[in-house]
Amino acid sequence: MTITPDSISSPRFPPTFLWGAATSAYQIEGAADVDGRGLSIWDRFCAKPGNVRNGESGNLACDFYHRYPEDIALARELGVNALRLSISWPRVLPEGRGRVNDAGLDFYDRVVDELLASGIEPLVTLYHWDLPAALEDAGGWPERATAEAFGEYAQIVGARLGDRVRRWITLNEPWVIAWLGYGYGVHAPGRTSVADAVAAAHHVLLAHGLATDALRRESATALIGVSVDLETAQAATETPEDVAAARAFDGHRNRWFLDPLLRGTYPADVLEQLGANGPPVQEGDLERISVPIDFLGVNYYQRRVVAEGNGAGWQFVRQDEAAHTDIGWEVSPDGLFELMMRLRDEYAPPAILITENGAAFTDVRGHDAAVRDPERADYIAAHVAVLERAIAAGVPIIGYFVWTLLDNFEWSLGYGTRFGLVYVDFATLERVPKSSFYWYREFLANVRNGHLASATRT
Ligand code: FCB
Repeated sequence: MTITPDSISSPRFPPTFLWGAATSAYQIEGAADVDGRGLSIWDRFCAKPGNVRNGESGNLACDFYHRYPEDIALARELGVNALRLSISWPRVLPEGRGRVNDAGLDFYDRVVDELLASGIEPLVTLYHWDLPAALEDAGGWPERATAEAFGEYAQIVGARLGDRVRRWITLNEPWVIAWLGYGYGVHAPGRTSVADAVAAAHHVLLAHGLATDALRRESATALIGVSVDLETAQAATETPEDVAAARAFDGHRNRWFLDPLLRGTYPADVLEQLGANGPPVQEGDLERISVPIDFLGVNYYQRRVVAEGNGAGWQFVRQDEAAHTDIGWEVSPDGLFELMMRLRDEYAPPAILITENGAAFTDVRGHDAAVRDPERADYIAAHVAVLERAIAAGVPIIGYFVWTLLDNFEWSLGYGTRFGLVYVDFATLERVPKSSFYWYREFLANVRNGHLASATRT
């Protein structure tokens, strides 16, 4: 699919629209034991054989820590007006709380300054999964104290960067933090307990509320949101069983987070289903969690077609006729449209930032050393086309970030799973913009020049 005059028409994206690419600290920085950085749960998780494909880790990653001027220059060449990056909590507080490591804060100072000097707005995420190991030793996210520690950390970072950073995301993907980390054990710290996952989810949400208050104390002009990972759920058939399964999955995956954040309640059907494994809610928690936000960050990759499960509640039904990325995620721009309508109608957030959207494909360098990834450009084009339809339908979308700028450490999938607009040769760390990079660059130039309709894939 390409963006044609028909697929994108008026209204044009306003000049204030944020066009960006997203990154995260552990996935790109490397420099794992440089300048006083403490240990994170991902350092430990990677060190344990069997957790990450090929035993890989983020120890070196893209070495963004040392190469950030080159990468910011690439972002500038791309023409984005914003870059999403995350702060490594263990760089700032090596033991998670208490002693501040100034060298860590200095690094983010330099990155923020370089971005601003390049005309690129930094969109700063405080937590993209690299919990200080010391806090995991004290119980991790299932412990309330971790949420309190996060509030302290937010205050410290806000005090240092709040004069230059305007937009903040407290945490990235509460569902992934809680369920992949503490429920299914496929992410750090690799624990497998439903009760721990539910407690972790509650404390992550509470941490969001505490950090929002802390950031507002430090910077009165801060615009604050949280990035939730949402998956549109569609029942495989109209049978009551499949419809109920889709609703149960949606409750677990989406409403469990949207309801407390935007309505100040947990969904009753999921609470009932959890029974004795319910969240450790204390008085005032839901008020803190539902603190007004300035925007909702949405990470969208795929929809799920859901059928009744054999005792498990639900199962996913692969749609063989649909396109899939190389890691089996269904390509469904319509799912994004449906999600935008639903957020507008059921939750009415003040604004929506698409903080991640992208696709993994097996990119290879051709004999001419170039990387051609037309599928990725098509994926982005199709989703951007949806944004404009949604804006026309009254959804207050204020920005879009491609996941991701650089190929990087894709968590338990390691370096073999590439999502970048820029190819990274991990043997030499050479950066090679892919054809999707040039497509996005042309698209952005056309948006800026008001010739949106002529952006076609190259
Ligand atoms: C999201 C994560 C991001 C990256 C993409 C592919 O869940 O936030 O770090 O792994 O998926």
